[in-house]
Amino acid sequence: MARESGEGEARVAMVPELVGKLTGLGCEVAVEPGAGERAEFDDASYVDAGAAVDERAIEEADVVVSVQPLATDRVRRLREGASTISFLPVGSSHDLVVDLRDVGVTSFAMELVPRISRAQSMDALSSQALVSGYRCAIVAAGLLRRFFPLNMTAAGTVPPAEVVVLGAGVAGLQAIATCKRLGAVVKAYDVRAAAAEEIRSMGAQSIDLELDTLEGAGGYAREMTEDRAARQRELLSPYIAAADALITTAAVPGRQAPMLVTREMVEQMKPGSVVVDLAAETGGNVEGSEPGRVVRIGHAQVWGGQNVPSSMPGPASRLYAQNVVNLVTLMTRPASEDAPAAFTPDFDDEIVAGACVTHDRRILHEPTREAIDGPTEEATP
Ligand code: NAI
Repeated sequence: MARESGEGEARVAMVPELVGKLTGLGCEVAVEPGAGERAEFDDASYVDAGAAVDERAIEEADVVVSVQPLATDRVRRLREGASTISFLPVGSSHDLVVDLRDVGVTSFAMELVPRISRAQSMDALSSQALVSGYRCAIVAAGLLRRFFPLNMTAAGTVPPAEVVVLGAGVAGLQAIATCKRLGAVVKAYDVRAAAAEEIRSMGAQSIDLELDTLEGAGGYAREMTEDRAARQRELLSPYIAAADALITTAAVPGRQAPMLVTREMVEQMKPGSVVVDLAAETGGNVEGSEPGRVVRIGHAQVWGGQNVPSSMPGPASRLYAQNVVNLVTLMTRPASEDAPAAFTPDFDDEIVAGACVTHDRRILHEPTREAIDGPTEEATP
């Protein structure tokens, strides 16, 4: 397992309690010194779990697991034929993908694991979105200088905070559930048809704007037209103006985050109100939000998310490591009496094929290959 080199990354790809799952398959596990430190796992706990702590861990490994992709200089130190498993945002990592290809590394991107039932236990987008969604709600409650729950006391009644959540995917639903547990009154909106029922099942009110739903491929949202976006903003304005806290988590795969809330809309919010924009890093759902900062717009404090799962590195690492172990297990032939364990990905398996970016000095992920090498010429019949 690699020590993360990315700035601000506190997670790790393997946690001591899961090392035994890999050694149980017959794999040897080596960890770079200090790899788990920022997630509060010290070297001794990995050794106790059966791993070796070794400065040369990644250079000698068959499979290197990490959260962020390895930096280019580290990729060049891998053995030819080694495999990497990490998040790998292919759309913005062309140089790195070319390096992985040229060094002869087989790389798997956790973002590309298909979202099918069989792959749910390997779905790191969902596991990390769960952490982000929870964290968003806690940040909103922490920034808001008033109670979330209703309080009826001898000194009078304190009304509950009103929270609006935009985007009710994995993160948004978790934010709703957490705000509800803290006692807030929650209203939420999402463009997908299925979302209204999911919002209600969390005990929140689903905001019905009487606009067409926007269902895309694979149960994801589609991008809005500018007309639709403007109408949505107009209809959402009164809900946002009335909220004490606004949490936004909307995303469209492969696109910039949709801009749902203008600066003007935030300026309509009450004194003391709070905005938490989970999408700040990918363009922002809220105009003017900045990743990793709290800025003031009108009366509101606007918090922009930046690598939010890393702010809870222990639990986020545990969930991520479990996703990685499940993926490694799928691709590993366990040790037997006749043969040691071997990493043998079956490229006919839709999960393996879907997640693979480079293999055998080729880019197998077609959209990335086309973006880098240009479209393949149609074969003439
Ligand atoms: P995401 O992170 O891509 O987007 C977050 C949410 O933003 C989505 O619910 C989306 O509909 C919403 N959104 C997009 N544009 C919007 C707009 N203009 N206004 C308001 N909301 C907007 O999505 P996430 O959380 O990764 O999952 C979305 C869906 O993916 C799930 O509900 C489900 O259908 C599917 N999914 C399937 C899984 C599986 O089968 N293993 C696992 C997780 C999700």
